[in-house]
Amino acid sequence: KLKAVIFDLDGVLTDTASYHYKGWKRLADELNIPFDEKANENLKGIDRMGSLNKILESSKCIYSYEEKLALCDKKNRYYQEYIKGITEKDLLIGVNKVLIDLKEKEIKIGLASVSKNAFSVVEKLMIVDYFDYIADANKILKGKPDPEIFMTCAEGLGVKIEECLGIEDAAAGVTAIKRAGMIAVGIGNKGILQEADVVLESLEAFDINEMIERFF
Ligand code: BG6
Ligand code: MG
Repeated sequence: KLKAVIFDLDGVLTDTASYHYKGWKRLADELNIPFDEKANENLKGIDRMGSLNKILESSKCIYSYEEKLALCDKKNRYYQEYIKGITEKDLLIGVNKVLIDLKEKEIKIGLASVSKNAFSVVEKLMIVDYFDYIADANKILKGKPDPEIFMTCAEGLGVKIEECLGIEDAAAGVTAIKRAGMIAVGIGNKGILQEADVVLESLEAFDINEMIERFF
């Protein structure tokens, strides 16, 4: 039986994935490191330091841990500048309806974002009250594709793994959901999200009754 839906945030509920890209691109340009949208695809769902390390793979320089921390801080300052003006108008299409449908059906709602800015973004989007559990990115030891954050959400929601459905826009995120043992809904490109049980263009196409019929 489906008892909980666990959402990723960036790229699923709002288009902050593009702001993360903008922040990394600005940093990479400053460091003269080649970086584009294609390379960015591998960064989606990956935590801050993990993302920087991937970008630095294309650099000729060696950076100390302290230097890397400073670069992470810099990218985060850019990112926070970009998300300053976020409001409920920035919810992606279909999100409001899905959240309302889930509440009506008494299906629990969780948030599994490795972003340390997740809570502030969800606050700006004015949807905090919908969530029964929001994972604390500061306490997650292993980022996606490790299943830890989705397992933590299931535990926090008080439901079994097989009672959960996860929604993700990143390949690493879909892998994390599948490794946790949950049904995975991908949002975006089928070619990229191959491991997902079903891929939708956006949450507008998400029908909870259809999901229950198909998978639970
Ligand atoms: C994920 C994004 O949700 O959060 C990544 O998909 C981002 O792009 C990661 O790097 C970490 O975010 P933050 O806000 O902690 O730097
Ligand atoms: Mg995402």
